[in-house]
Amino acid sequence: MVQVTLEVNGKRVSHEAPARMHLGDFLRDQARLTGTHLGCEHGVCGACTVLVDGAPVRSCISFAVACEGRQVTTIEGYDADPVMQRLRAAFTKHHALQCGYCTPGMLATSRDIVLRLPDADESRVRVELSGNLCRCTGYMGIVAAVMSVLADLRAQPDDAVQALRAAQLQGHGAAPVMEKPVVFAGFTPTMAAPAAEGAPVAAAPEAAAAPAGKKEGRGSQIDGGFQVPFPADQVWAFMVDLPALASCLPGASIESHEGDRVKGKVAIKFGPMAAAFNGAARLERDDAAMRAVFRGAGQDSLSQSRANGDITYQLEALSPTETRVNVNLLYSLQGPLAQFSRSGLVQDFVRRMIADFGNNVTARLRQPAGQGEPLAQASFNPTAMFFSVLWARIKRWFRRGD
Ligand code: FES
Ligand code: FES
Repeated sequence: MVQVTLEVNGKRVSHEAPARMHLGDFLRDQARLTGTHLGCEHGVCGACTVLVDGAPVRSCISFAVACEGRQVTTIEGYDADPVMQRLRAAFTKHHALQCGYCTPGMLATSRDIVLRLPDADESRVRVELSGNLCRCTGYMGIVAAVMSVLADLRAQPDDAVQALRAAQLQGHGAAPVMEKPVVFAGFTPTMAAPAAEGAPVAAAPEAAAAPAGKKEGRGSQIDGGFQVPFPADQVWAFMVDLPALASCLPGASIESHEGDRVKGKVAIKFGPMAAAFNGAARLERDDAAMRAVFRGAGQDSLSQSRANGDITYQLEALSPTETRVNVNLLYSLQGPLAQFSRSGLVQDFVRRMIADFGNNVTARLRQPAGQGEPLAQASFNPTAMFFSVLWARIKRWFRRGD
């Protein structure tokens, strides 16, 4: 984790963030400025465009830490901007948005065009806008809006806009195409340390959680764990018994089971997200190290989203009667549900699930299978879970005092 301090829309913003967090996530998740939209997160669609020191930048491919000390302008920061006032009115007049997802990026790029290219014709405007994609394909209205602002300013120059153009020329050179690229400051990489900030959402059993992040190329990962008051051998025997294990995972059910392979279903409901993933998984275990990887993949028949995930857990004997189970979840979502995969609420939700899983394991170990009633599936109250996670998060926001 590193401390990142920026000037965002004229205000100093300072937060701890993972060194690999991009500027778009920093603005949305840390600074709570959700007007910056993330589309492709590959630098292709332009939805995430913000200004850094006055120049348009893809916030999805700029590290937040590399922008240390810079001035960042997001769509929330243009209220007093004379060009943006004209563009907003023109976008409205020319019906230049449908769903509006591309609009913050389109407006940031359009503002740059109006300032840099006062004499641009339609084909030049189209070329300049070609780095911003509109999935509603509303390009006619967008181009017409930019053209109308340029025409208005040619017909009746505006002193405030002229002043901005002069400042733009000073900042970025006289050529219509930006000649001086923004050069980001270097930074010293730091080891990601387990942070107090990712404080456990749940209480008992202990559910310490490291900050969630993206493991390069493989999806998002979350570290957590729990402690159970039983010897490691006993916990290990339980943790490699797949039906017993599944009975502790809220929303999971096994349909068939053969050795270390299972087929089944995981039902998830959290706020707007509801899915039932049907799939298969296998357990790879290392009995000597008391470490196992549960690899699974499944598909939600409703949204056609696909999920892949590895749950790695390793036991650590803390004492002859106390064991810690360290859990690492590495997952990726493709399809419509992918938009939820890295939101802060979902990360908190998964941590809460790990904590609940630990509670269930403790309860099951206290009442071993084969003695008395068969193990029932752990119950799951999605509404209570949603509101408890939301409440924990709200409390954290207020504690941070920003
Ligand atoms: S989200 Fe940044 S370019 Fe698409
Ligand atoms: S208006 Fe929907 S993506 Fe452009």
